Amino acid sequence: MKEKRKDLTPPYFRYLVHLIRPFPDFDFSFIKPVRRKAVELLKLKQGDRVLDMGCGPGGSFPYIVDVVGPSGEVVGVEISPEVTINARRRIARNEWRNVRVIEASAQTVNLTGTFDGLLMFAAADVYASEEALENIFPHVRENARVALFGAKTSSNRLGRILNPFLKMLFKLSFSTTPRPDYEPWRILARYVERLDVEEYFFGLMFLASGSVITKKPNKKLVVAY
Ligand SMILES: C[S@@+](CC[C@H](N)C(=O)[O-])C[C@H]1O[C@@H](n2cnc3c(N)ncnc32)[C@H](O)[C@@H]1O
Repeated sequence: MKEKRKDLTPPYFRYLVHLIRPFPDFDFSFIKPVRRKAVELLKLKQGDRVLDMGCGPGGSFPYIVDVVGPSGEVVGVEISPEVTINARRRIARNEWRNVRVIEASAQTVNLTGTFDGLLMFAAADVYASEEALENIFPHVRENARVALFGAKTSSNRLGRILNPFLKMLFKLSFSTTPRPDYEPWRILARYVERLDVEEYFFGLMFLASGSVITKKPNKKLVVAY
């Protein structure tokens, strides 16, 4: 049973979360501005309820809490029991009473109520999974903002050289993690009215955002970037 639980965390991530466990507020400096921007794109206000899918150790929590305030709520969903420990330590350290983490997979988590914002930061297992999106979107209100950040293969001249390296890195991830392609937001684009995509790091990373228009996936795909 214990082995099975460990299998939910790829080895490299298990070492990382153990390493940073004594420092619950740890986050990589280079990622902070991107997190801030992703949360800004959610256009949240005081009192909003926000879903952070694949929340990991909760690196995005401070930015969301800052905007929604004590009357808002943040719900993180994280599949790995080992990573969940870190996220809960962050919550305890910051004495956030309005932040909680559900240990579950995005594909099967039992969500309740409606959310005003959906964040999927470096969570390809969520934003590129039809099953996960089908489970989540009935709980995200119409016009709510959605933001996602992740890796993609690059069509840029310089970035193309690094595509094989990116694919190699992904082999270290979950066996179920979808491998990056040129448009990893393709499935999600059916759930939002308009998806704006900004590319970073020679086209190897992207930050996308849009607004939910309907509870049912759009047949028409509209991507602007
Ligand atoms: C690269 S980490 C990013 C974590 C976090 N969003 C952040 O910004 O630091 C991806 C996280 O998604 C979690 N994850 C992977 N598959 C998942 C799934 N099916 N449902 C929920 N979480 C998942 C992993 O355990 C990991 O913590």
